[in-house]
Amino acid sequence: MTNFFDHLGNSVAVLGSQWGDEGKGKLIDILSNEYDLVVRAAGGANAGHTIYFKDPENPEKTKKFIFHLTPSGMLHNNTKCVIGNGVVLDIPTLFEELDFLKQNNIDTQGRLFISDRAHLVFGYHKLIDKLQEKMKGEKKVGTTKRGIGPCYTDKFRRNGIRVHHICNFEKFEKKYQENLKMFKNMYGNFKYDEKEELLYLKEACKRIKPMITDTAFLLNQEAKINKKILIEGANGALLDIDHGTYPYVTSSNSTIGGVVSGTGLSTNKIENIIGIMKAYTTRVGKGPFPTELNDNLGAKIREAGGEYGATTGRPRRCGWFDAVVGKYSVMINGLTEINLTKLDVLSGLEILKIGISYKYMNEYLHSFPASLETLEESEVNYIEMPGWKEDISKIRNYNDLPKNAKAYVEKIEEIVECQITSIGVGVEREDIIFK
Ligand code: GDP
Ligand code: IMO
Ligand code: MG
Repeated sequence: MTNFFDHLGNSVAVLGSQWGDEGKGKLIDILSNEYDLVVRAAGGANAGHTIYFKDPENPEKTKKFIFHLTPSGMLHNNTKCVIGNGVVLDIPTLFEELDFLKQNNIDTQGRLFISDRAHLVFGYHKLIDKLQEKMKGEKKVGTTKRGIGPCYTDKFRRNGIRVHHICNFEKFEKKYQENLKMFKNMYGNFKYDEKEELLYLKEACKRIKPMITDTAFLLNQEAKINKKILIEGANGALLDIDHGTYPYVTSSNSTIGGVVSGTGLSTNKIENIIGIMKAYTTRVGKGPFPTELNDNLGAKIREAGGEYGATTGRPRRCGWFDAVVGKYSVMINGLTEINLTKLDVLSGLEILKIGISYKYMNEYLHSFPASLETLEESEVNYIEMPGWKEDISKIRNYNDLPKNAKAYVEKIEEIVECQITSIGVGVEREDIIFK
């Protein structure tokens, strides 16, 4: 294990490389112990990062945490955590998570720093998220209904309300009313209890104020004195607003660009970029999914992998590993290595398929297409590989994996053109092979 951490530099980004839910939370949690700071850069409470670990007071018991907004590093008492400027902050979710940590005897005092530049999500953003989905009908995105789209829309329309605004409550209240009025004009004067929300926010303000700071400055100061920084990516490359399957995407940059703009750490400060890739593919919500399995096999993988959304509980769509997506994600993110997760879930399948290229009108596409029509009309070319029967969840050395499992891992490495340095074989901290 020591060897694995040794090869990583002082600042590492961990990014989702498919359609989210690749298992980012688990690796972040494993790495967090070795880092001084853990930082969320983009997205909001649409994320759901699951962590299982043995209760230190009762090792027979496994504890489960799902973080939506708070960096997963909060589980480690010596780690400072940062919510960067690129995040959209939902205060009630933040407080719920901090309270849950406290109930579990984790000291959160003075450990969380929130960017003064992050934008605030309000109840009406969530309401509008729902309204927009309803208006889209058949074409709805299948959002998490956490108000993400409307809040980022506010930000880019230059109407947004940032965390620092809350420090002067009178002015904040005025801004809030103006913003709500604008939305009401746009969406047909919907009913909304702003008094209740404003009362809540006035109270919340007292709790949140001590956490507010200029996090870009903080991070750069810490980097200067060689503190180790871990960036916790959210969502996934194919959900990125620019590079994903637009419009079936989230409303922020979940790729490496979002890390830079969402933290204020410049590119030359990020030494390693670890892509998290599931050994197969899943997607929750609507939108194209070329290697999807709409059959019993897809359902079997869903059950074996516990593929139900950590944020919404929705069943995740499942399919074969898509190496076109993998290679694209390596390129867009400049991944320096991959953590391949959930290999254990594929045990027992006779044959495994990997989607290796897309063919459109008899021509191979050189990369992932922009047009959803092209994608829909493309044919996926697969290779088949023999599966393995053995339970691999207790294996800790790469060489002890069944021959076919190693061949599968190495084939993925070869096609996506990036080294796989760790492999997930179960949900807990220990269930990982460092290659
Ligand atoms: P994230 O959003 O990328 O952090 O991923 P989620 O937490 O939404 O979903 C990943 C799920 O897979 C969680 O329930 C994890 O506990 C679980 N998981 C992560 N890595 C592995 C693994 O290697 N094997 C198995 N079986 N489960 C894993
Ligand atoms: P983590 O960090 C999986 C998906 C939603 C929907 C689309 C837009 O846990 O991997 P939004 O609420 O962001 O406007 O929804 O993006 N989505 C995710 N899917 N994992 C996530 O995060 C996601 N965050 C957003 O399901 O399809
Ligand atoms: Mg998730």
